[in-house]
Amino acid sequence: MAKKKTLFECQACGYKSSKWMGKCTNCGAWDSFVELSAKEIEILQKIDKTTLSSTNVIPITEVEQDKIQRIPTGMDELDLVLGGGLVPGSLVLVGGSPGVGKSTLLLKTCANLAKTNKRVLYVSAEESAGQIKMRADRIEANEKNLYLLNELVLESIIAQLEKDHFDLLVIDSIQTIYSQEISSAPGSVSQVKAVTFELMRLAKSKKIPIFIIGHITKEGSIAGPRILEHMVDTVLYFEGDSSQEIRLLRGFKNRFGSISEVGIFEMTKKGLVSAKNIAKRFFNRKNALVGSAATVIMEGSRPIILEVQALVAETGYPSPKRSSTGFDTNRLTMLLALLEKKLELPFNQYDVFVNIAGGIKINETAADLAIIAAILSSFRNRPISEETIFLGEVGLTGEIRDIVMLDNRLKEAASQGFTKAIVPSRPLEKHNIKTYIVESVEKIVDWM
Ligand SMILES: Nc1ncnc2c1ncn2[C@@H]1O[C@H](COP(=O)(O)OP(=O)(O)OP(=O)(O)O)[C@@H](O)[C@H]1O
Ligand SMILES: [Mg+2]
Repeated sequence: MAKKKTLFECQACGYKSSKWMGKCTNCGAWDSFVELSAKEIEILQKIDKTTLSSTNVIPITEVEQDKIQRIPTGMDELDLVLGGGLVPGSLVLVGGSPGVGKSTLLLKTCANLAKTNKRVLYVSAEESAGQIKMRADRIEANEKNLYLLNELVLESIIAQLEKDHFDLLVIDSIQTIYSQEISSAPGSVSQVKAVTFELMRLAKSKKIPIFIIGHITKEGSIAGPRILEHMVDTVLYFEGDSSQEIRLLRGFKNRFGSISEVGIFEMTKKGLVSAKNIAKRFFNRKNALVGSAATVIMEGSRPIILEVQALVAETGYPSPKRSSTGFDTNRLTMLLALLEKKLELPFNQYDVFVNIAGGIKINETAADLAIIAAILSSFRNRPISEETIFLGEVGLTGEIRDIVMLDNRLKEAASQGFTKAIVPSRPLEKHNIKTYIVESVEKIVDWM
């Protein structure tokens, strides 16, 4: 008799093994292996084969280019991140932490499309139709072409799409939908993989765009697997603190456009609206303050003025605390070590806390100088003028390094009434702001 084939899968990373393992050799997770059933093995093999199978080879010169007709979503910020609108047949993953506004954004997008006579299906496995209706009333999304389906089973959703034609499908959320063909729980690696694969096939065969919503785990990745990011065409992440009104929609991957643009929204009672006038949203201080410095970060092609805050206090612990919100803690530790060495300041006896106002995360190094300025200001108890802006990256040797788009940042700062800028190099253009070049961290003290 032939021996039964066994296969185990890590539920944390999707790694497969013919033997059960207590600890995954790929991702290090403990007790994460479950045995796959024969049916599951068959489905997963089918997925892999379909991805690998190829038809006849064609010379590239003879391939006809796909003519993409993008569909405007009725939300400028979303169109911007999508690369100019929604592409028919594309699978778009929208990830974000709980309560950030994923359902709100997509329900409004559905309503906008329904308004243009497109039939839209919003599948929710998390909320009842009544709950969605309540949201629709609040954000004015009541359109007769917008249909709701309260369903958990993938096969029923597909049957619905076979029965009726829809121009857009939204799945809220991928972790709650399950395929009856797979026995593991919704949200597990094999479920998420199989459901996404079926949705991808559906999007391509019916040439309709599909949005899937994905929850983000505490670690910041889409729960379930990274595999999801590989399978879909576009991955967008919704960022922002649900206690703050500003939300950023960032492209992480896009097969149909650039990922350098960022959509900026504002959460209002009527839902998410484009946050056009954000110039002074993150910095509206009118006097000099201790421990607060201004900088300009670039979000895509848009400059945003930010307030960086720092608190330096004598420590009561054997090893001082370092904590930061919106800024990389490792980088903060590096900057403190540099200040200790170059300026001979005893930071080993002080706790240091850094906060970026407005719930924004800084993903670039151009704010280093502002962080240092805020720390020094708090340490020395000396206020920084509300008219000064700090721009520059700090290197390990203490030198202040050049940053990209210096002129764009200075232009924005000048237009918002800043009069003095501490910069790493001479700008190319002339701006209505006085610039002072600093070459090293030791020199920054002179400008505070
Ligand atoms: N009446 C209201 N006025 C203003 N904002 C509201 C109101 N009701 C809800 N909100 C905002 O909407 C957010 C919830 O939005 P939504 O349900 O779209 O988020 P989500 O990302 O889908 O959450 P989940 O992960 O729970 O599905 C709340 O955190 C709140 O900021
Ligand atoms: Mg939701």
